[in-house]
Amino acid sequence: MSDVLSELQQRRAVARAGGGAKRIEAQHDRGKLTARERLELLLDDGSFEEFDMFVEHRCTDFGMEKQKFPGDGVITGWGTVNGRTVYVFAKDFTVFGGSLSEAHARKITKIQDMALTNRAPVIGLFDAGGARIQEGVAALGGYGEVFLRNVLASGVIPQISVIMGPCAGGDVYSPAMTDFIFMVRDTSYMFVTGPDVVKTVTNETVTAEQLGGASIHTTKSSVADGAYDNDLEALLQMRRLLDFLPASNTDEVPEIPTFDDPDRTDISLDTLVPANPNQPYDMRELILKVVDEGDFFEIQEAYAKNIIVGFGRMEGRTVGFVANQPMVLAGVLDTDASRKAARFVRFCDCFSIPIVTFVDVPGFLPGTAQEYGGLIKHGAKLLFAYAEATVPKVTVITRKAYGGAYDVMSSKHIRGDVNYAWPSAEIAVMGPKGAAEILYRSELNDPEKIAARIKEYEQRFANPFVAAERGYIDEVIMPHSTRRRLTRALNMLRHKEQENPWKKHDNIPL
Ligand code: HXC
Repeated sequence: MSDVLSELQQRRAVARAGGGAKRIEAQHDRGKLTARERLELLLDDGSFEEFDMFVEHRCTDFGMEKQKFPGDGVITGWGTVNGRTVYVFAKDFTVFGGSLSEAHARKITKIQDMALTNRAPVIGLFDAGGARIQEGVAALGGYGEVFLRNVLASGVIPQISVIMGPCAGGDVYSPAMTDFIFMVRDTSYMFVTGPDVVKTVTNETVTAEQLGGASIHTTKSSVADGAYDNDLEALLQMRRLLDFLPASNTDEVPEIPTFDDPDRTDISLDTLVPANPNQPYDMRELILKVVDEGDFFEIQEAYAKNIIVGFGRMEGRTVGFVANQPMVLAGVLDTDASRKAARFVRFCDCFSIPIVTFVDVPGFLPGTAQEYGGLIKHGAKLLFAYAEATVPKVTVITRKAYGGAYDVMSSKHIRGDVNYAWPSAEIAVMGPKGAAEILYRSELNDPEKIAARIKEYEQRFANPFVAAERGYIDEVIMPHSTRRRLTRALNMLRHKEQENPWKKHDNIPL
């Protein structure tokens, strides 16, 4: 008996050594942790249960039959994060550069299948050189199997990808179909084709960082939802994110005990909105002041900063926040902001996360750049996402709600459940100046007359009461009581049931 036990121990030791001490050292020298070290940090202490530790590839081309590493470049299994089950896979760059073989793909699809059957999130840690070149089409088939499962699991269980090294070729599309992608600054990059191919095809000279580093994907392409300085920080933040997410689309959002009084008022909010309507203020301050303990997990913080999206909690339960940010481009809706918010709203709706919307929006951004960039379609995505969402939707208009953007930002007309406005709200077709200049074009040469017209329009529409008179606003509330109003509204809506007409799926403008 002791012989078989020691054989198991010995086999395990070989598997745990991955590609060997030298390659592990090289991994550390690059500022990266190994796949096993990463899983240890991501999961609760001692909770990792590994599967398929002894799986090996079956390739016999290019002398591969002589090069085998148990585990075959990916470590898979399940564990817990703060006591809740998650399925994990982590690419092991020390074994064939983490490249994907047929056997490697099977290990991942086993985890995906188990996660879907047992309804728990999947987190993939990427650090890999794409398809196993020696395997050819078998590797491509493996990718296809992984992609299919990403799609089938979408909207059923949360899927998160963390890019912690190279991620190229076939490796980029699985993350692209998951709910969130996070990257590590300076050590990770993502692209379909690398700098060498780019040089050959387009004659552009770029570095890996310029082509697909975290700095690009969090600010320009919006492929990534956030970036962290190192592996440790990234993994700890993933633990924090998971605490906000339900295990599946049939599970309730997690409830985290809080000491923050739901009735807490904040008198400073009464002076948040400046008297001058053209002066900006920081909408993030409002979010931080209403959520439990000021804890807010922002998504795509560095992209389309004119809109803020992210998760907070009210009375311990997760809420998705969407808020125009007057500090950036006056909080206008443009193509990027519309896409960013639309995707977030849809994520919340998939996973029964109520949405709170803070509105201060001067409208959609005019101009050829926006129209050529498809503003109509991108704006429609946000409108579509809000309109189809059946989760509780609570809206607070803090200042401007002009034009089409008023309708889009979770208005009553598209099934906003509770729509509040602060007394500083201005709900109108457009700003008073623009309105007066169109209505009284003939008086444009007379500054006094036009100033009087602007004043007249301001008095009539630059307030929340015209909308409140029609019932488009349920109540005009004191800013300092916003947290209390929101927690009460969310409680009242907790058992909301609403269904859309049967369909195979919708046809959201893409
Ligand atoms: C097999 C691979 C590999 C691969 C790397 N390795 N990529 N083995 N298949 N795709 C191996 C290397 O041989 C080496 O083995 C070890 O991993 C580390 O690689 P290095 O090149 O030494 O590391 P580094 O200098 O850090 O460069 C990392 C890299 C580079 C940028 C990822 O290895 C690279 O460019 N690899 C090829 C990327 C690629 O073109 N992949 C195919 C994409 S096509 P040793 O034994 O020396 O440690 C694709 C199509 C799928 O994925 C499409 C599906 C839709």
